[in-house]
Amino acid sequence: MKILLTGGCGFIGSAVVRHLLRHTDHVVINVDKMTYAASEEALEEGLGHNRHMLIRACVTDAATMRQVFATHAPDAVMHLAAESHVDRSIDGPADFVQTNVVGTFTLLDAAREHWSGLPAARRAAFRFHHISTDEVFGSLGPGDSPFTEDTAYDPRSPYAATKAASDHLVRAWFHTYGLPTIVSNTANNYGPWQFPEKLIPLVTINALEGKKLPVYGDGSNCRDWLFVSDHAEALVRVLERGVPGGTYAISGRQPRTNLQVVRAICAELDRLQPDPAGPRERLIRFVTDRPGHDFRYEIDPTCSEAALDWTAPHDFDTGLAKTVAWYVANRAWWHEVRARRYAGERLGSPGHEGAAQGEAVQAGVAQAGMVQGGVAQGGAAPGQAETSDAAQGRAA
Ligand SMILES: NC(=O)c1ccc[n+]([C@@H]2O[C@H](COP(=O)([O-])OP(=O)(O)OC[C@H]3O[C@@H](n4cnc5c(N)ncnc54)[C@H](O)[C@@H]3O)[C@@H](O)[C@H]2O)c1
Repeated sequence: MKILLTGGCGFIGSAVVRHLLRHTDHVVINVDKMTYAASEEALEEGLGHNRHMLIRACVTDAATMRQVFATHAPDAVMHLAAESHVDRSIDGPADFVQTNVVGTFTLLDAAREHWSGLPAARRAAFRFHHISTDEVFGSLGPGDSPFTEDTAYDPRSPYAATKAASDHLVRAWFHTYGLPTIVSNTANNYGPWQFPEKLIPLVTINALEGKKLPVYGDGSNCRDWLFVSDHAEALVRVLERGVPGGTYAISGRQPRTNLQVVRAICAELDRLQPDPAGPRERLIRFVTDRPGHDFRYEIDPTCSEAALDWTAPHDFDTGLAKTVAWYVANRAWWHEVRARRYAGERLGSPGHEGAAQGEAVQAGVAQAGMVQGGVAQGGAAPGQAETSDAAQGRAA
């Protein structure tokens, strides 16, 4: 099968490309705009592989998308390209509306034109798989049942709202035009090659460098964690076995509070590389929470597990051990990212930008009677900034 895969140089997309090349015979046409979040190195053996081609293009570019379909005549689409970082969506929602909503529309339209012209057998076998998030479902309270495929949408951040809009467009193209679409909604991913603005890589890197590990509030916000290679495996099953018009809620059944996650990273690093200064939990700092951030996400994957005959191979401890070991072994990559693309500054905090940010956070922390680690702006020394994802566990 020839797959047009978007966002294949991102964290999850690159894991899917690697999985497809290692474990299937499928051909991958990888369309990626190469934003700050992309890493060509993450393709590993995909670079130069005869079943992989990288096309640098934006999914909002209708003429180019039509041309890509016409030239490569794919049998399926896996659409992962997105602006994916919740905190960036608060600072600059326009890019999220463009890529996540307009880009998905543009790709759907180009896919429909291509699919309409296919012979009957290829039309029936064609799939448009849209990769989405559990954040479209909103926030759970402590006693609420986990999300399922039937949970009503209630997005609360600009990121989640644009993903929800794109999910609705995809389903509309199924119901209105008959395009064989599938949606999967997934929990927080973690693993190798994740951009260090997200919780697990950021805390790991800060801890390796002996820097503060800020945790918002009391650290009780809860996320459901899925190892990225498990997600890649599940996504390929969704593509190969999923029913058009279907929705698949995927998770590894591994909910953890943010504080549990940060402590587990500290323990794993202490085991791998003991710090002469003492256990790394000493670096944890509780900082003032942001109002209105989602308390808990958790997915009940029972239906998808049965439909796909799949359960996640990794539990959280196993996946985290592999992840932490990978960041220890791949300093060159994240040093470069921190030096050139993201130094660890706080994002997504309206009213706290610029010089006032440090003061505001410091003041809030002082009120809460807590100690705050270094707070810096863009261009600060790596790891010296408070980072909102480290605090909130947002890893959309
Ligand atoms: N990371 C998670 O925990 C998570 C969880 C559930 C769902 N998702 C979804 O999975 C998908 C991939 O997430 P990720 O974490 O790998 O994201 P990412 O930010 O790491 O990667 C996104 C990729 O998309 C590319 N891209 C962005 N805008 C583009 C555009 N306009 N045209 C073409 N390419 C563009 C980027 O260059 C990058 O390579 C997203 O759709 C996201 O919403 C992510």
